[in-house]
Amino acid sequence: MSSTAYHTLNPPLRILLGPGPSNVHPRVQRAIQAPIVGHLDPYFGTVMEDTMALLRIVFRTQNKLTFPVSGTGSAGMEAGFCNFLEPGDVAVIGVNGFFSERMVDNAQRAGATVIQVPAEWGRIIEAEAVETALKSQKKVKLVAVVHAETSTGALQPLTDISRLAKQYEALLLVDAVTSLGGQELAVDDWGIDICYSGSQKCLSCPPGLAPFTANQTALTVLQARKHKVPSWYLDLSLLSAYWSANRFYHHTAPISMVYALHEALAVIADEGLEASIQRHARHGQALQAGLEAMGLTLHAQKGHRLNTLTTVRIPPGVDDLRVRQRLLNEFGIEIGGGLGPLKGQIWRIGLMGQSCTSQNVLLCLYALERILATEGHRVEPGISVTTAIKNLGR
Ligand SMILES: Cc1ncc(COP(=O)(O)O)c(C=O)c1O
Repeated sequence: MSSTAYHTLNPPLRILLGPGPSNVHPRVQRAIQAPIVGHLDPYFGTVMEDTMALLRIVFRTQNKLTFPVSGTGSAGMEAGFCNFLEPGDVAVIGVNGFFSERMVDNAQRAGATVIQVPAEWGRIIEAEAVETALKSQKKVKLVAVVHAETSTGALQPLTDISRLAKQYEALLLVDAVTSLGGQELAVDDWGIDICYSGSQKCLSCPPGLAPFTANQTALTVLQARKHKVPSWYLDLSLLSAYWSANRFYHHTAPISMVYALHEALAVIADEGLEASIQRHARHGQALQAGLEAMGLTLHAQKGHRLNTLTTVRIPPGVDDLRVRQRLLNEFGIEIGGGLGPLKGQIWRIGLMGQSCTSQNVLLCLYALERILATEGHRVEPGISVTTAIKNLGR
């Protein structure tokens, strides 16, 4: 028998302060190790029921169709577009970052004509611009925006856009990958018809599941489709027959990942959803104050900055990649670089879920300040940490 060389699996322990994944909660880590049962086992049925009930709490919805789609956040996005759009439909999409551009691609692949409402990367989509796009068409089927643009750090206000979508009888689809559990989000109160997220950000779970919810208005649209949903795997009618009392087999559910999500949601329920959102606000704002005290400039539009993910401009003359490599090698900290037009222009620092702690805020500021001091950006030593500590009210 020939032998194959391989590395023993021994991943380093990182402090994950990038755009995701974030660190996994120890309770979630333990849940993954629980014994596997069959996907039709009655015990798994109770796990599924609990998971759906807990997801309704974090989405703040009563929607019956609320379950995790197997796959990462992009599977949630694709499920949103391929179920609710079909050839001949028109969609209005706010385009102000990498993930909203991906939405456009998804909508076009579903056969829809897309009216793009552009905004500079880092700024929000203005409701007036959405209304102009809605007015320009005879019938718009769906309006889509990203709530928390992970590529820019902008937090999109949703209530005005929701009101417009209702007024023009269009569905509202919202990407909440970087907001669910970490920023205020109220699916029912805000009139969101379809919403999806990812397990690996503010939920402190590994990547692999896409929490998804859709209301009755959206389901009525789904039932009235002229063509079959082009994706068999992401067909919500088939998936909801499994995520229901009938438990019709569709695909073998990723059992351990559902355990993990169940536990991650239970962790949030134990902390309290509001307390989790407040924790993200406190730490995100302390980080931002510390970065500004270091003489750095925040990228996202003032007044519309995410707490869960901060974007900061790279000072002139500083080497983007070298700083990120030094953070990783010297401090074990991962942060993200810019995407698309913001590549080399910004850093993206996430404080999500289990990663969102005071220790991480202070360590990240200390490490960045130390490294920047030797990379040509002089700052008063300790100023960023002192500012953040004051901001945290310590
Ligand atoms: C806003 C947003 N939408 C969609 C995605 C895609 O999610 P995934 O990478 O889990 O497929 C991401 C990933 O970071 C995201 O931040």
